[in-house]
Formats: sequence, C-alpha cells, structure tokens
Amino acid sequence: MFSSKKKQRNAQETTQRASHLISFMNPKSNQAEQFRTIRTNINFAQLEKNVKSLLVSSSIPNEGKSTLTANLAYVMAQTGKKVLLVDADLRKPTVHRTFKLNNTEGLTTLIADEDDSVKFNQVVQYSRELNLYFLPSGPVPPNPSELLGSAKMQSILTTLENHFDLIIFDAPPITAVTDPQILATLVDGVVFVIRQGFVGKDKVKEAILSLQNLKTTILGYVFNDVPKSSGKYYYYE
Ligand SMILES: Nc1ncnc2c1ncn2[C@@H]1O[C@H](COP(=O)(O)OP(=O)(O)OP(=O)(O)O)[C@@H](O)[C@H]1O
Ligand SMILES: [Mg+2]
Repeated sequence: MFSSKKKQRNAQETTQRASHLISFMNPKSNQAEQFRTIRTNINFAQLEKNVKSLLVSSSIPNEGKSTLTANLAYVMAQTGKKVLLVDADLRKPTVHRTFKLNNTEGLTTLIADEDDSVKFNQVVQYSRELNLYFLPSGPVPPNPSELLGSAKMQSILTTLENHFDLIIFDAPPITAVTDPQILATLVDGVVFVIRQGFVGKDKVKEAILSLQNLKTTILGYVFNDVPKSSGKYYYYE
C-alpha cells in the first residue's frame, strides 16, 4: 500500500549507513539504552494523555533534536507500533539525509496540494528493515510558517493520525522561528531537548514560557550531553 518497491528499497539499503541512528547501529550501547528509557517514559506519559502525535524541539539550534527524533522514532517502532517520522524542519531538513531518503516529495508536497490530488501514501516512504514510515520535508518553501499554520496542515495531521499509532515531528528550535510554536498547537505533546552546557538558561526559560503560553502539553525534558552520566541522554519529566 505504501509507496513503490523502489522507494522501500532505497530506505532499506541506506539506513545501514545512518550514522546518527545509534539505536539501530549499536543497540547495546549506553546511548541506545538511554533512548529506550526515554521511550519508556514517553509511553507512561502517553497512557495518561493518549498521545498520537508529538513534536521534538529545543530552545536553540544544534541541541540534538534531530538525533533524538530519529532514534526515538526507531525505538518506538521496535515495539510494533506503526510510527511515522515527519520532517517538519522546513528550514533545515535532515531526516532524508539521516535515512538516505528521496526528498523530491514530502510534507510540503501535501500541504501545497490544494485540490487534494496527492494522497499521503504516495509520498510516505517505508523501511521494512526499521519498521518505520517517513514523511520527509519535501522541497523547502520560502514561507514555512504559512504552510505549517495552514488549514491544510491540520487536515493532513488528522488524516495521518487516523493511519498511524504515533507521529513524531522533527522541528526547528523555538527561539529562532515561529514554526515550532505553530506545530506545538497542533500536536498532542512536546518533548523538549536541553543540551547541557551549551544553551543558556535565559533561552531555555524563554522557549518553555512560549510553549506554556500556548497551553501545550510538555511531555518531558530530555537533557542531552549530560556530563558525568554513563550515556549522553537523560530524560526528566
Ligand atoms: N550528546 C551529544 N554529544 C556530541 N554531539 C552531539 C550530541 N548531541 C548532538 N550532537 C551533535 O550536534 C550536532 C547537531 O545535532 P542535531 O542535528 O541532532 O541537532 P538539532 O537540534 O536537530 O540541530 P538543528 O537545530 O540544526 O536542527 C550533530 O553534529 C550531532 O552529532
Ligand atoms: Mg535538526
């Protein structure tokens, strides 16, 4: 049902080289274990809130959002859930690079399709090896905030929520652009990454405050790059 055989093969062959996907490359590592712990914590939060879609964001660039998103999507899919990873970082998309996917079509293709002629399963790609579905960003538009804030985006999310158990969005940082705030109002919850010793407290406060003002549910905080810990990720809710 999903995509062509060629697309499936592309995703399968190339994930073998996805260096950021430590949970897949080295499942016995401390880092992979940390990602599974984060999964457990989110699953607990999910029980209470019935989370179908979540957004991963942070205060500033380079805090490890995309690395977390990719690994989280993978470990969630390992439990047998039908998981879709969406690259909603329309300014600096990386999902297609991490998973070596074709990015000529993606989220932007669906949003820009005014007459609903493109069905989501024509642009979603699947990796049998990872049991993971992908919606790459698609061509980068000049007006990402406008696209993400459109009524079409809302209806796409509703459709996707009907077809997948969990949708995980990779997004830009909160204090840089308004895109993540827009997305935060659409999804069921936000996972907030804080890279320790890298981001200033003021920026973290500013970002969390803006999420609280939107009345979004913050599912939890992931501390990345924690010194003196056995792994590099630490989850706190
Ligand atoms: N704990 C860590 N230790 C060392 N390097 C890390 C760690 N977390 C992330 N990085 C590195 O930081 C860089 C940025 O990571 P990533 O792309 O996941 O961040 P991001 O928050 O998605 O960035 P952007 O805001 O640009 O989208 C990558 O080179 C990644 O390997
Ligand atoms: Mg990123």
